[in-house]
Amino acid sequence: MAIDKTAVIGFPVDHSLSPIIHNHWIKELALDIKPYEKLNVDPNMFEEQMNNLKAEGFGGINVTVPLKELAFNISDETSNVSKKLRSANTLTLSSDKINADNTDAVGFINSLDKKTIEENITNKKTLVLGAGGSARSVVHALNELGSQVRLFNRTPEKAAILLNDLSINSSPVSTEELDDYANSSSFIVNTTSLGQKEGEHNNILSFENIGMETFIYDLIYNPKRSSFLEQAEAKGLKVQNGLRMLIEQAACSFQIWHEIKVGVSGELMSLLESV
Ligand code: ATR
Repeated sequence: MAIDKTAVIGFPVDHSLSPIIHNHWIKELALDIKPYEKLNVDPNMFEEQMNNLKAEGFGGINVTVPLKELAFNISDETSNVSKKLRSANTLTLSSDKINADNTDAVGFINSLDKKTIEENITNKKTLVLGAGGSARSVVHALNELGSQVRLFNRTPEKAAILLNDLSINSSPVSTEELDDYANSSSFIVNTTSLGQKEGEHNNILSFENIGMETFIYDLIYNPKRSSFLEQAEAKGLKVQNGLRMLIEQAACSFQIWHEIKVGVSGELMSLLESV
């Protein structure tokens, strides 16, 4: 049955750009469905609120922080990748069950140019900073792309748990090794929230001796140029922010629900950049 009502849930969800993205495609394709909404869902009332959404006829729900694990846990059927990550960002609701998927890892992969994958990731050393939910998707994606991925986190125990959960045979990078490992990496991605708040600087790494061919990625897209990317750009390195990943993971959810493959147009990019 066609899905008529879709939304993103989170706590808080007010700043989510997902409605702009999904409603852009709904309008572009002239789909005869309700506008995509954003709804705050209190984690303490998660099951109850999910039942309400089902009763209200919602068929597709995107899930953002801090609800992704809860969403996975209440689902009846789970995709392989959501099982691997133990989290869900895309739920499909029908009368008798909830299906869970996770499009973050594939969204990250689809956000990368083929050339970057070939030259900087596959069979190359890569470094992920952070060990939260988004790090989990990125580490999984880099591992799937055949990279030798290692992880640094302020709290090393969390990095070790993440690597173990994903069955990745590498140890967390220690503070002492960090700069040396970064200097020999071809691709470095920041998944920490550091740099999101105004005036906050991400000084986890020193950029002094980073290789000139290293690709620097920050999942942060607001601000458009985080302090992490600014440092990399000042050195003349190739950089990318998280906006494309945001759109690509949304495109995968859209396809799951509506069975239509949507693209990332320049119009959509500028719409989001102007917010
Ligand atoms: P998300 O789900 O978006 O990945 P998260 O689960 O809250 O967010 O994870 C945030 C990540 O940013 C964590 O790796 C956190 O490090 P800790 O595990 O040590 O808490 C990292 N982080 C947040 N603030 C940081 C800071 N000031 N310095 C270094 N790392 C930071």
